[in-house]
Amino acid sequence: MIVRVDLGERGYDIVVLRGAIAQADKYFDLCRRALIVTDDGVPEKYAKAVAAKCKDAKIFTFPQGEASKNADTYLSILKAALDFDLSRADCIVAVGGGVVGDISGFAAATYMRGIDFYNVPTTLLSQVDSSIGGKTAIDFCGIKNIVGAFYQPKAVLIDPDTLDTLPRRQISNGMAEAIKMAATSDAELFGLIERGCDTEQIISGSIRIKRDVVQADEREAGLRRVLNFGHTIGHGIEAAAGGSLYHGECVAAGMIPMCSDAARARLMPVLERYDLPTSCAVGSEKIMQAMIHDKKAEGGAINVVLLDDIGSFTITKQTPQGIMSRIKAAWGDI
Ligand SMILES: NC(=O)c1ccc[n+]([C@@H]2O[C@H](COP(=O)([O-])OP(=O)(O)OC[C@H]3O[C@@H](n4cnc5c(N)ncnc54)[C@H](O)[C@@H]3O)[C@@H](O)[C@H]2O)c1
Repeated sequence: MIVRVDLGERGYDIVVLRGAIAQADKYFDLCRRALIVTDDGVPEKYAKAVAAKCKDAKIFTFPQGEASKNADTYLSILKAALDFDLSRADCIVAVGGGVVGDISGFAAATYMRGIDFYNVPTTLLSQVDSSIGGKTAIDFCGIKNIVGAFYQPKAVLIDPDTLDTLPRRQISNGMAEAIKMAATSDAELFGLIERGCDTEQIISGSIRIKRDVVQADEREAGLRRVLNFGHTIGHGIEAAAGGSLYHGECVAAGMIPMCSDAARARLMPVLERYDLPTSCAVGSEKIMQAMIHDKKAEGGAINVVLLDDIGSFTITKQTPQGIMSRIKAAWGDI
């Protein structure tokens, strides 16, 4: 399946195909130098399979994990590009999860003021979410994604077979984002997930939702905020939990207080099926403190997405106290 992201001259195709990684040259222009960036948690066979299809490739590997998404790794990718004599006509290819995609995309956006970037996402989260939309970034001074650029890839290649090596908890982490998008924007896809459809259907359905949002609001001026459903409380939980929970797990729990009763009744069993949390043991005071510092805080009120029903949402502003009341209503005193 090919999904076109229609952004004029920045438009590109997202290819979803089992085994596609072994035919990367069919979808990417690899008749030039390609710096392939990956991390040491991604099975190396994936980067090697892409390299085998390049005229002249070099694989650059950095240590896995969010801690690597920093200025040092970014500079080391630029250094590898220079050492490899990468020119303006060459390209960078990311092979890995959202960390690899975000940092390689930022390196591609800035090396020689921008060279071609291709993305081969290999986690479910990166396949349904981070590889689409052109947000690239690194973390800096302890702040996530604070330095970056909007820079669209030339193409994205999603090979669902790469998920065979991904641990179940990482699958669930990606499912949280897919469930989030279906819950707000696609009642039909949500119904399919409820009935237990296969991963490929979930990937294609999520891509279409994200594609539509990105096409309507490339630079996150308004509608793209729907993607933040569950994130206001989720970010609070993530900060308060001190790294013990995955992002998707925090978003899963963070969605619950922002739902109508009817929407919550359908959402909870789906999250539970993927072992995702629907409540949270972190103290509400800690969540509150983290929320107040949330970058989305504007003039005392925070933009939040409320789920009125499956497939129907409202974006509104709420005070931290208003959000606390929702947390108490959903979870009692925590
Ligand atoms: N750009 C965006 O729009 C956007 C959206 C959401 C999230 N993000 C970013 O994405 C990042 C999180 O991405 P993630 O959840 O993919 O995490 P990740 O990139 O850290 O990958 C998770 C782990 O899985 C390993 N891995 C990757 N592919 C594998 C495979 N096929 N088999 C086995 N192991 C594999 C990695 O080595 C890593 O240890 C965060 O930095 C977040 O800020 C960006």
